[in-house]
Amino acid sequence: MKTIEDLGDLRGKRVLVRADLNVPLDGTTITDDGRVRAAVPTIKKLVDAGAKVVVAAHLGRPKGAPEAKYSLAPVATRLGELLGTTVTLAEDTVGESARATVAALGDGEVALLENIRFDARETSKDEAERASLADDLAALADAFVSDGFGVVHRKQASVYDVALKLPAAVGGLVLTEVEALRRATDDPERPYAVVLGGSKVSDKLGVIANLLGKADRLLIGGGMVFTFLAAKGHAVGTSLLEEDQIETVKGYLATAEERGVEIVLPTDVVVADSFAADAPHDVVPADAMPEGRMGLDIGPESAELFRSKLLDARTIVWNGPMGVFEFDAFAAGTRAVAQAMVDAGEQGAFSIVGGGDSAAAVRRLGFDEGGFGHISTGGGASLEFLEGKELPGIAVLEQNRTEA
Ligand code: 3PG
Repeated sequence: MKTIEDLGDLRGKRVLVRADLNVPLDGTTITDDGRVRAAVPTIKKLVDAGAKVVVAAHLGRPKGAPEAKYSLAPVATRLGELLGTTVTLAEDTVGESARATVAALGDGEVALLENIRFDARETSKDEAERASLADDLAALADAFVSDGFGVVHRKQASVYDVALKLPAAVGGLVLTEVEALRRATDDPERPYAVVLGGSKVSDKLGVIANLLGKADRLLIGGGMVFTFLAAKGHAVGTSLLEEDQIETVKGYLATAEERGVEIVLPTDVVVADSFAADAPHDVVPADAMPEGRMGLDIGPESAELFRSKLLDARTIVWNGPMGVFEFDAFAAGTRAVAQAMVDAGEQGAFSIVGGGDSAAAVRRLGFDEGGFGHISTGGGASLEFLEGKELPGIAVLEQNRTEA
């Protein structure tokens, strides 16, 4: 893969950067700016090199047409604050406004194209459609830098196809992410423990199957744990449950046993009357959950158990919160896992926090990001990497032209 240095002298050159600026918003307020901060070093490097920087990014999943609530305007403001410069937001993605905005850029100036998913060709399955958007993007630039790690698993015009149209290089964020994740996928230091949470087992099927051949311990929490508890024959009240995955999970439990992989499930659960911050709640044994109540966090005994399984690990990967950490009453399990990772890190373990929700949880719960080996900006992308899948946005960089 070529790096930015391989693109040569970039002074006065227009460089298109694909970043992942898909941040959570409350109205127009960014509630976690981690991805914007992560995008800054590469953009700054290009600014310092005197390039005219054109950033392409998406926000949410608009349906291929402009929608005000998905405008990148709040992101342009935040990016400008972090860079200490004005970031001009084009009013469209590759239309008249984009062309004029890019034409007006001086050396070392930055523009952001409006949400790339306002153009239906971005996510089209039709290669010719994607290629036509890639042509429009390529017309705005002399070189391409792929730095949106969170989208490299997407075969989309601004991630994949445009890399075939311009001299292309990998950005520093993607390089850092790939290096860190490789420490877990290629010969990890053992014991290798993986903590999986989040709401759905079905989102994590590939990664669980792959990890059963690699990890020494799998700790399961979050909404997905109730499908595991159900597979063990326990009642789960009104908790999240994917009935159609119970048989698959039974298969995982059997495979884990055959292969000597330890699957660690909670022994107690915090159950509540409803999904609300102030819902009355109690701690109950995981094998005796009452009817009519829902599990919203792992219990204190489980938090201790998980901690003990993480403290002596040498490699730890965590993807998905243990409970509804957004509500204080159900944040203790997630906090305990994060704390155990920090403590294991102090004893020399390498830890990776993967997935937007876990990364947001770490910041929201007030942890110092420096306490973790790596905090990934990728949700689906980091999971697919751990699954061992080829990521189109990275594979394409291997087969590209280089001269700017
Ligand atoms: C993410 O949020 O994981 C990335 O920005 C990718 O977004 P997507 O899942 O909508 O493609």
